[in-house]
Amino acid sequence: MTSPLTVHHLRCEYLENPLGLDEARPRFGWQLHSPRRGTVQSAWQVQVALSSQIFDKPVWDSGRVESNQSQQIVYAGPELAARTRYFWRVRAWDEEGNDSGWSETAWWETGLLVPANWKAGWITPDLPDDTSKAGPVPLLRREFAVATDGEITSARLYITARGLYDARINGQPVTDALLTPGWTSYGKRLQYQVYDVTPLVQSGINALGVALGDGWYRGRLGWEGKRNLYGDRLGVLADLHIDYTNGTTALISSDSEWRTAYGPILASDIYDGERYDARREQPGWDTPGFDDSGWSGVLSLDAPMDTLIGSVVPPVRRQEQIAPLAITPRPDGTTIVDFGQLLTGWVRLHVNGQAGQTVTIRHAEVLDRDGNLYVENLRTAKQINKYTLKGGGPEVYEPTFTFQGFRFIELGGYPGPVTSDSVTAVVLHSDLTPTGDFVCSNPDINQLQHNILWGQKGNFVDVPTDCPQRDERMGWTGDVEAFLPTAAFNLDVSAFFTKWFGDLNADQRANGAWPHVSPHVLPDNCYGACAWGDVGILGLWDLYQIYGDRRLLERYYPNMQAYLEFVRGYAGDNLLADKPVPNGFHFGDWLNSDAPSSNGMLATAFFAQSARVLAEIAAVLGRTTDAGGYRELAALVSHAFCQEYVSPNGRVDGGQQTAYVLALSFDLLSAELRAQAADRLVGEIRERKDHLSTGFIGTPRLCPALSDNGKLDVAYDLLLQESFPGWLYQVKNGATTMWERWDSLKPDGSFQTPEMNSFNHYAYGSIGHWLYRVVAGLDVDPSAPGYQHAIIRPRPGGELTWAKAEYASAYGKIVSDWSWEDGRFHLAVTLPTNTSATVHLPAATADGVTESGLPLVDAPGVGSICQSGDELLVEIGSGAYSFVVA
Ligand code: BGC
Repeated sequence: MTSPLTVHHLRCEYLENPLGLDEARPRFGWQLHSPRRGTVQSAWQVQVALSSQIFDKPVWDSGRVESNQSQQIVYAGPELAARTRYFWRVRAWDEEGNDSGWSETAWWETGLLVPANWKAGWITPDLPDDTSKAGPVPLLRREFAVATDGEITSARLYITARGLYDARINGQPVTDALLTPGWTSYGKRLQYQVYDVTPLVQSGINALGVALGDGWYRGRLGWEGKRNLYGDRLGVLADLHIDYTNGTTALISSDSEWRTAYGPILASDIYDGERYDARREQPGWDTPGFDDSGWSGVLSLDAPMDTLIGSVVPPVRRQEQIAPLAITPRPDGTTIVDFGQLLTGWVRLHVNGQAGQTVTIRHAEVLDRDGNLYVENLRTAKQINKYTLKGGGPEVYEPTFTFQGFRFIELGGYPGPVTSDSVTAVVLHSDLTPTGDFVCSNPDINQLQHNILWGQKGNFVDVPTDCPQRDERMGWTGDVEAFLPTAAFNLDVSAFFTKWFGDLNADQRANGAWPHVSPHVLPDNCYGACAWGDVGILGLWDLYQIYGDRRLLERYYPNMQAYLEFVRGYAGDNLLADKPVPNGFHFGDWLNSDAPSSNGMLATAFFAQSARVLAEIAAVLGRTTDAGGYRELAALVSHAFCQEYVSPNGRVDGGQQTAYVLALSFDLLSAELRAQAADRLVGEIRERKDHLSTGFIGTPRLCPALSDNGKLDVAYDLLLQESFPGWLYQVKNGATTMWERWDSLKPDGSFQTPEMNSFNHYAYGSIGHWLYRVVAGLDVDPSAPGYQHAIIRPRPGGELTWAKAEYASAYGKIVSDWSWEDGRFHLAVTLPTNTSATVHLPAATADGVTESGLPLVDAPGVGSICQSGDELLVEIGSGAYSFVVA
């Protein structure tokens, strides 16, 4: 008989069978499935072995561990060897003693682990190189022989670059990952990737080819037009290990044997785009037998090895292709193509013409009133790709080391009529698994959710960027602070943010301040802003809630302490953070539409909140004394805040919405003041005829502050507001992503100032988590992080007749799906095995409440039922439930 309990979805460091992990103690997670309601895991066992067949001599056998933990299980076996594939499997028992049997086998493979395991040296092309502007892309190649007498068991390429690399073996790309090695704080952390190239290597002569683009490393970065921020020499570092059945290994490395020449890409730049001359292609350059006698040699490059880290993040890949929605020829001979969706990526061009003809592709987010591309808001970023044909038949072109933010393109010089076969938009972003979906009875809100998701897709391009089009595209910390909880509903951002918080903390200054952007590429004083900097504490706490990631808390605890001391230091004895930020500055409630709140008030509020959250973190880490100290500090700062910024009748600071929102959501007020502040917030909103006025700091917390303080109806009024400023104003004006400003397109039809007007900026998409948590009612329980215990509490309003959220937590899918039907409230809930939830039903008593047709009290899987105000709190275990409240 098959067991009623099965184990599946094995993940190691959040990834499925990751290749190239440098983590000394990887963490495991798995999902369980049982058809029976209320099933929990009572024990688990993990085995790790060197072969998928032989588990009888495991490297590590945890033995049976009595525990319901099925995520964040830390490997506790002997030290791991480099370049080794470890296989692992799990077995679990439920609370009735049912044994799942062994799961399917999963694996992870270690990378080089320490710099000393690299055999390669850095090399750089010995070619004339003008580093003052975007130059041609060098190709590097090396041939190597593979013994014909031994069979290859496996071949691995370990590779990274100073710049971006595109690597190929025998004419085939080694990966579908793009923009590798990705963007990190290169001076301190440079990722390398590992590829399984076994199928590409052949016996006899082989060729390894690498093209190198400037990318973030030495291309133009930042609005000051600076280049070469990390260094001015391109370089590649590569070790190709080929293992034979006879136990020997051949090694081909980046060394003096390589040859180099410039290829068809004449110029390549992240912001400006690419110029490609197909006549300069060197057919066969990446295959064996190519004559490279006219090519130059390479030089060895003195570059650090101790910054190298294994890459543990899903790379950027092609995600979707979008066909033209409308094609409009223009009187000047150009053609405008509308793809119907603002996106990040590039255009694939299909063209047939004469050698030497050049097609120019210009990209823009919007058109102006005359139907021309509007490019002023790109500032100095050109976003232009140019392709020169080689002639002689159909040609296909995609750029390599750049990306564009666009919905519209203008094609110039295209030979023949432009048809829907001429161009395709290729959507690129980090390859993050979709985890959530929110949908409800209001189509405008559904479009808002669409826009939030596309704002995220367009900006999660290896780094969480502010925008993907102008001369910026940076990892703004404040934008992450606002958006992280929403981001984590939509896509699996666990590994993505593990990488980014690594950079943030690598960029932390000795005085404890975190930068405005990470990777940090701005002037020296771009540090220490409140909210922006606080993401180092608040964002990690969010990740802990969402994924249960205690390790990140542990790893960066000293950094968090240093930050808090930094703030405490400049706040001084009276604990008000109203003094100048040492070698830094604040942004305030960025892009708010009322009188600015005082920076001192905002910074003091964040000081209190970060102290309070650090106290919680310390408690999770078992640092009880620290926890007490930070709790006390939080109380003192809250007190100082109230003394300085709150009047006895509940007015906060200048009376801005954000002032009330922070005081409420950071719990800075006494109960009495709290009620007054909530009323005043409502008054402020009503005075503005149900419009918000908040910026990057207030917006993410605005609707939660209202719904948490008995003002749910006001939150819905804001959500549904169709005129400026409000979320649906954008929707009603045809947005397909989130805008940077509430009025990026002004009510009079003109554009906001081109100096700062992105149509793809996710920060105001931070309403998204409220849609999931409050409108649909799918929320995390802070006391059981990672959703092992969830809170299901739909809060209907705004004339919605139904709403549904799904979220693929680490434990499996959670669903909260409510509707009003025939005057009765229906709620369908699904919980994965080994989890439970408290369901809040809008019912005064259990009488008349049914679950799957049975009286609630008789329903299997339903535990305690208790009354709290006008709600019924029902404890349920895993399974699918269907409640009806009469
Ligand atoms: C960015 C924002 C960022 C802000 C900081 C802008 O240029 O695009 O998203 O948070 O600067 O004030």
